[in-house]
Amino acid sequence: MKFKNLKNRVVLITGAGSGMGRETALLSARRGATLVICDRDEAGLKETAEAVRALGSEVLAHTVDVTDPAAMDAFADAVHARFDAVDVLINNAGIGVLAKFFDTKPEDWDRQIAVNLKGVVHGCERFIPRMIERGTGGHVVNVSSGAGYFPSAVMSAYSVTKFAVFGLTLNLRIELRPHKIGVTAICPGVMNTPIIRTSIVRGADAGGQADRVRSMYMRRGYPPERAAEKVLRAVGRNRAIAPVGPDAHAMYALNRLAPPLARWISGRVTHMFD
Ligand SMILES: NC(=O)c1ccc[n+]([C@@H]2O[C@H](COP(=O)([O-])OP(=O)(O)OC[C@H]3O[C@@H](n4cnc5c(N)ncnc54)[C@H](O)[C@@H]3O)[C@@H](O)[C@H]2O)c1
Repeated sequence: MKFKNLKNRVVLITGAGSGMGRETALLSARRGATLVICDRDEAGLKETAEAVRALGSEVLAHTVDVTDPAAMDAFADAVHARFDAVDVLINNAGIGVLAKFFDTKPEDWDRQIAVNLKGVVHGCERFIPRMIERGTGGHVVNVSSGAGYFPSAVMSAYSVTKFAVFGLTLNLRIELRPHKIGVTAICPGVMNTPIIRTSIVRGADAGGQADRVRSMYMRRGYPPERAAEKVLRAVGRNRAIAPVGPDAHAMYALNRLAPPLARWISGRVTHMFD
């Protein structure tokens, strides 16, 4: 099924209290969707919910940590008490850690796997079975990253979780095809969102590096409003993989056409942070 029109469709977005998740919620509302949103940040979630209501759309908002299976169960129960199934599921919640492998702490691995990978798994487990049961199709979006297909040693564990989400998404796409459920990996490059202020930065010159990266994200980052358009376009066209932003497209093309060159460029970028 291709969702070109979101009128009367139910769109669920995790991590909708900020950044690309919030902008995708607002754009979906402008296109007539009913929204189901969650975030662990109650204040940000409330702001998004109010903005969606101001656009005239219905919204169900729950403060949920996607890493918490019991909280996700309760969220799914509340959603399915109101709707048979969601039409579009967008697993967007994510966190960043900017650290090479030997600067990454054990707790960084645990937290990133919990949010960036298991958060996506929890969303898929709880919302896809009802889409299948209903039998009228649907669409699933998992937010990966350009760092989900391009070697990115400056964010080693983050990149590993995003490669995992990328693989999970391609597998699910095959598994869900007989149910007419499309599945898309959204892969943004550098986006100017609050994630860069909340990300943990580690390394010998963590302070200086954080400042450089933040200013680069603010100067060069792709606007989340435009990223939201790409997300909904990818849903409408049932894309398997959707790079978002010129850098993500360039990395995608390079990685496919000239993998050794991609690794060489990635190495140059990595050593800029030494
Ligand atoms: N900004 C970038 O450059 C960039 C690049 C590639 C991929 N991404 C991915 O895009 C997605 C959206 O990120 P963004 O840039 O809009 O960042 P953001 O920080 O603005 O938004 C992420 C949202 O997820 C929420 N969140 C984090 N952990 C959560 C949890 N455990 N449970 C529920 N909610 C949680 C945060 O509170 C926040 O509202 C993420 O998956 C991120 O990894 C971002």
